[in-house]
Amino acid sequence: MIEIVGLRKRFGSVTVLDGIDHRQEAGEVVALIGPSGCGKSTLLRCLNWLETPDSGSLRLGDVRIQAGTPQANDRALRQRLRRRTGMIFQQFNLFPHRTALENVMEAPLHVDRVPDAEAREQAMNLLSKVGLADRAHHRPSQLSGGQQQRVAIARALAMKPQILLCDEPTSALDPELRSEVLSVLASLATEGMTLLLVTHELDFARDIAHRVVFIDGGRVVATGPTRAVLDQPEHPRLREFLGLGRRTAIG
Ligand SMILES: Nc1ncnc2c1ncn2[C@@H]1O[C@H](COP(=O)(O)OP(=O)(O)OP(=O)(O)O)[C@@H](O)[C@H]1O
Ligand SMILES: [Mg+2]
Repeated sequence: MIEIVGLRKRFGSVTVLDGIDHRQEAGEVVALIGPSGCGKSTLLRCLNWLETPDSGSLRLGDVRIQAGTPQANDRALRQRLRRRTGMIFQQFNLFPHRTALENVMEAPLHVDRVPDAEAREQAMNLLSKVGLADRAHHRPSQLSGGQQQRVAIARALAMKPQILLCDEPTSALDPELRSEVLSVLASLATEGMTLLLVTHELDFARDIAHRVVFIDGGRVVATGPTRAVLDQPEHPRLREFLGLGRRTAIG
């Protein structure tokens, strides 16, 4: 479902992504971890072309783009790439003056020209799915952070993405509101959604991720099955990141 080969991105003279390779099967849940500033958000943003990578190739589902080529300037192609993913941000980015229902209906109505009644019905179904049918007519300011983030998830799902990219979806939330968002994401994972998730919540990663990718210095430093990466980390940088000491000769 996802294939990234040799992805590079610089900001000015700073190389943020220095040849990222990543493959992910449909239905696979991958947690992306790494120190602040290592390029996790930039990588997610490159995947839907919110940031333009300098070189490397991307394939999402059946859409393939080689960065840095004339083909990568093709707007229609970028649009197709973007349609493969839904993105969930740390700050929910809802339209403040619209209700939950209107937020979820927005893109199907105006991008896909879905008829109003159909968009409304679909949006209600999605709000039910994230446990918010009774909040459909509330504005974001009338919702808790956890509820706003669930609306944002419903909104992303409204465009029927094949892949959900989540950038620290719970880090702006109080601990007691996190669990409701995490359980929605966990149920999407169970349903077989392909999830690429930047998170600092290692317990959550343990629960739902099939695999963990650890990025440092713009490269994938360690990757593997979740338990192996988090519980038996080999790489010294990863051990340091996880707050474990260096391995010594006596263990
Ligand atoms: N638009 C931009 N212009 C210039 N530099 C940028 C831009 N966006 C990101 N950067 C830089 O790129 C590096 C990676 O940023 P990024 O946001 O991807 O890190 P991150 O791993 O998501 O960090 P965090 O865990 O703190 O969210 C940082 O040094 C950041 O300052
Ligand atoms: Mg980030």
